[in-house]
Order: sequence, then C-alpha cells, then structure tokens
Amino acid sequence: MALGMWCLPVHAGSSLYDRLGGEPGVVAVVSELVEIMRTDPVSGHIFRKVNHKRLKMKIAEQICMLTGGPCAFDGDDMKTTHAGIPITETDFHRLVEHLVVILDRNGVAVREKNELLAILAPFKRDVVTR
Ligand code: HEM
Repeated sequence: MALGMWCLPVHAGSSLYDRLGGEPGVVAVVSELVEIMRTDPVSGHIFRKVNHKRLKMKIAEQICMLTGGPCAFDGDDMKTTHAGIPITETDFHRLVEHLVVILDRNGVAVREKNELLAILAPFKRDVVTR
C-alpha cells in the first residue's frame, strides 16, 4: 500500500518561499522584524541611522533567494555588509528570538520555522562583529 504518499504534507513539493506565503508572507515577517529590532531596547541603537524601507526590501529579497523564491539578491555578502556594524552575539540572538515570535504570530508552522532558522543560523559567524 502506498501509505508513504498519504503521509506527505500537502506542500511537500513546494519551495520554502512558497510555504512561507510567498512575497506577501516574507515581506510581512521581514517588515515586522525590522520594526521590532529598531525599537528593541538592547539592539535598537544599531538601526538608528539605517534606511529601514530599503533594509526591509533587501532582507526580503535575500530571504526570497535563500528559500528558493524567484528573486536575485544583488547585495554584498553578509560579512562585508555587517563588517562596520557593532553586532554582538546577544544582538544576533535577540533577532532570532523576535523572528520566532513573529513567525508564530503569522501562523508559520514548526517545519517551515525550523527550515528558515536553519538557513539563517550559519550567518551568525558573518554578522557578529563584537
Ligand atoms: C541571519 C542574520 C542576518 C541576515 C541574513 C541579515 C541580512 C542583511 C541584509 C540582506 C542586509 C542589507 C544588505 C544590503 O544593503 O545590501 C543587512 C543590513 C543590515 N543588517 Fe543584517 N542580517 C542579519 C543579522 C543582523 C543582526 C543580528 C543585526 C543587528 C542586530 C543586523 C543589522 C543590520 C544593519 C544595521 C544593516 C544595515 C546596513 C546599512 O544599510 O547601513 N543584521 N542585513
């Protein structure tokens, strides 16, 4: 009996990008993340002089590319981008914690949440500069 087929999640064949809700889904999550990070009591100072609208666009674009969406990310690599910014391990963890809460609030399921976090985690060594 082909039980295996029955056990596959409905979206097993589609990209993580699609399963995150495509462009509207990713843009919503990234916008909330940037808004929360810029008002975060510990990490907010890092974003004071940043063009938030552009940052949201760039991060959404990058996540789109990393998750198999139809986007090209034309920015610098993450090490170069964050080189001059005073980011600690604590800042990185705060970003991840906020992201988890936002993903939950937006109804992203455990599997998709874990896939996205697994994609982002290796960037820690590139973005933490302090
Ligand atoms: C998974 C981790 C991260 C990813 C994937 C990521 C991704 C990005 C991307 C795509 C950009 C825009 C690059 C461009 O303009 O071409 C950016 C810029 C920036 N990131 Fe991150 N980031 C991460 C972690 C962090 C953390 C933890 C902080 C600080 C708490 C941070 C602070 C910033 C700031 C301040 C900029 C703006 C630079 C500027 O425009 O002057 N990032 N990041």
